[in-house]
Amino acid sequence: MNSQDKIDEAIRNPKNLGEMSGADAVGTAGSSDCGDMLRMWIKFSDEGGKRVIDKATFQSFGCQTAIAVASMATELIKGKTPQEALSLSGEALSEPLGPLPPIKIHCAQLVEGALKNALTGEAAPSPGASAPMLADSLQAKGTVKINFR
Ligand code: FES
Repeated sequence: MNSQDKIDEAIRNPKNLGEMSGADAVGTAGSSDCGDMLRMWIKFSDEGGKRVIDKATFQSFGCQTAIAVASMATELIKGKTPQEALSLSGEALSEPLGPLPPIKIHCAQLVEGALKNALTGEAAPSPGASAPMLADSLQAKGTVKINFR
């Protein structure tokens, strides 16, 4: 299966798509290359005294490659510590899809940016309140953390 086939497959059945209520962390990134945006929610759990990623979900106004990479990435980071997840580059996150064409490399970096923003402290939604939908954020320009790469 080539890279495009794997992307098509991930698009047909994206994993972990959607907002997560009760998330511990949320991170958003936007691409200056194409204007696409992606948000990721993370929930941690305690595993033998170690804080690990229990679950991650995403929402995207992005291209299919970004959705495919986010789908892979949310699976890949499960069970990792925040430090381990932070060390993953866009290239590592998209590795299961095979090498991306050069014009699609920023799509994986968009996912990396959202993940890093989530892990490095963009405010988590307060308990009981759901995080704003990506569409709301786009309308309320200026409230979204843009990660220019
Ligand atoms: Fe910009 Fe994919 S084309 S995120």
